[in-house]
Amino acid sequence: MLKVYRGELLHFLADPAKVALSDSYQYFEDGVMIIKDGLIERIGEASELLTTLDKSIDVTHYENGLIMPGFIDTHVHYPQTEMIASYGEQLLEWLENYTFPFERQFSDLEHGKNVAEFFLNQLLDAGTTTALVFGTVHKESVEAFFTIAQQKKLRMICGKVLMDQNCPDYLSDTAQSGYDDSKALIDKWHNTDRLQYAITPRFAPTCSTEQLNKAGQLLAEYPSVYLHTHLSENQAEIAWVKSLFPDSDGYLDVYDKSKLLGRRSIFAHGVHLHDDECQRLGETDSAIAFCPSSNLFLGSGLFNLQQAQKFDVNVGLGSDIGAGTTFSMLSTINEGYKTQQLRQEKLSPFQSLYLATLGGAVALDLEGTIGNFTQGAEADFIVLDYHATPLMARRMQHCKTLSEKLFILSMLGDERHVKATHIMGEKV
Ligand code: GUN
Ligand code: ZN
Repeated sequence: MLKVYRGELLHFLADPAKVALSDSYQYFEDGVMIIKDGLIERIGEASELLTTLDKSIDVTHYENGLIMPGFIDTHVHYPQTEMIASYGEQLLEWLENYTFPFERQFSDLEHGKNVAEFFLNQLLDAGTTTALVFGTVHKESVEAFFTIAQQKKLRMICGKVLMDQNCPDYLSDTAQSGYDDSKALIDKWHNTDRLQYAITPRFAPTCSTEQLNKAGQLLAEYPSVYLHTHLSENQAEIAWVKSLFPDSDGYLDVYDKSKLLGRRSIFAHGVHLHDDECQRLGETDSAIAFCPSSNLFLGSGLFNLQQAQKFDVNVGLGSDIGAGTTFSMLSTINEGYKTQQLRQEKLSPFQSLYLATLGGAVALDLEGTIGNFTQGAEADFIVLDYHATPLMARRMQHCKTLSEKLFILSMLGDERHVKATHIMGEKV
């Protein structure tokens, strides 16, 4: 079945940091997108494409808005939804005082479903259509999440947390039970509809070497599943890893020794990486989730985007709820822009919107499936409304270029500016 949408249209074809800016995106001031059976069939100028269509076909016209691919959140914790904005601590104390007690509740399948329903609606309201998501240590948390994501026909990636040391007993698995539970979840859910599995060691401090090795073994057994963890977020954390793994040559090397790096491996944060670690991430095709809202909230530090780009590391954007304070990728971009300002560096609106869409798809090895409007891609897209708030509408009156317009959108925009979210072509 054909569906046709008309409006201002923007998507990316390549990383603006790697090619000439004009080759990195496609923009149609008055564009048309044709969707067939939930997949992108064609996009182009309205004046050209409309004449090719049968007169009987309905065209949905979005005015005062920008049609873009749905945002991709490459690092977020759904069980932390209800503990967002917990006061006063940095990473390790924040985990101990707030996070672990909260995650305890997810042994209850019904509780998980209830939170997953709310969480996914928040993502969709914010224009995020795909996310790489942490569960908790409980297999029920992932069961709950996938059940709800499947009902909503979403492309989502999730995994059960692995943690067998330095955590409360009530949140601890073992190397063997973590392996067995993960395997059962992979067999049931990986590549079921649009769902995919991520092996999810929480971070090096809460995983024994045996557990990390078992994660590597599982990854080798299922090469198309993801690996999702945290890396070099906070100085005290890094010092702790050094003392726990004295034989390793740095934080990343702990994961590397257990064979956890690769094309489908995503490391959240990477705020304090050495050049040799970045080089290793680049040469193994691993990715970093840049989580500026979280990094500012927990006082973790200012991500060095230029370092990652220099070593050709794939980078996506992450909200990192509940350490991040917003579901909105527009607000996350706003925070990212400010982190780069504090580094005396620039984050252009093209670069940041690339990171939030195609960059995320590349980081997740899903280029061609989501992230832009190439033919055959899944038609998950959003409509951003310039007139949703009086302030943005007023500011837009004084803007002349596309670059300016996108910058204003990403600095002033949030959930309020997401007029519609479409999943496989259908408005939700
Ligand atoms: N490192 C280990 N666990 C977590 C978590 O839940 N949130 C963040 N931001 N960092 C972590
Ligand atoms: Zn996190």
